[in-house]
Amino acid sequence: MEQLKQKIRNEGIVLSDRVLKVDAFLNHQIDPVLMQQIGQEFARRFRDEKITKIVTIEASGIAPAIMAGLELGVPVIFARKHQSLTLTDHLLTASVYSFTKQVESTIAISTNHLSPNDRVLVIDDFLANGKAAKGLISIIQQAGASIAGLGIVIEKSFQAGRQELEEAGFRVESLARVAALSDGQVVFVE
Ligand code: G4P
Ligand code: NA
Ligand code: NA
Repeated sequence: MEQLKQKIRNEGIVLSDRVLKVDAFLNHQIDPVLMQQIGQEFARRFRDEKITKIVTIEASGIAPAIMAGLELGVPVIFARKHQSLTLTDHLLTASVYSFTKQVESTIAISTNHLSPNDRVLVIDDFLANGKAAKGLISIIQQAGASIAGLGIVIEKSFQAGRQELEEAGFRVESLARVAALSDGQVVFVE
């Protein structure tokens, strides 16, 4: 997606050879016009999949997910990372290990919002090692729902996430694929 790649070139900051900072438009400040275009692009790619729900994870997945949900006309569920005062329903949970933070955490979605009739599109802001995505997939499968695929805003193709998800049989659609972060420059997959 050319507008997204341009935005990454102009406003992304290469923090190291593994980490790209995009706080200017995705992870802290959010560009609503770009998010709308991202939602339209996800909708275009998954239009024929009979999606009934979108599932993402708080916090940074919510903005692109909600724009895709608006385009596809379906509800958006975000998995919670922390306990909630009001989320007292029966929960489906998964354990997610973060390599970057080196901590294991539990993510949760209420059983009330997913059923075996649902066909789910998973959306997230980043795909690195794919641990978050696999946690979401586990929760969706526990609910008996089917998974149409994953829509990722920025994929770090030099990490294992995409390959592992594809080997597990999932369709992965990434709007920007980063081949390398070197000498402060973002190199995209051709
Ligand atoms: P994994 O899920 O693929 O295994 O990734 P990892 O544990 O390494 O990532 C933990 C968090 O860091 C996730 O956000 C993920 O989106 C984010 N992340 C991973 N690599 C990058 C990167 O190069 N740049 C940026 N900006 N983020 C990256 P999170 O902690 O869940 O945060 P948030 O959703 O609240 O923003
Ligand atoms: Na993130
Ligand atoms: Na995320």
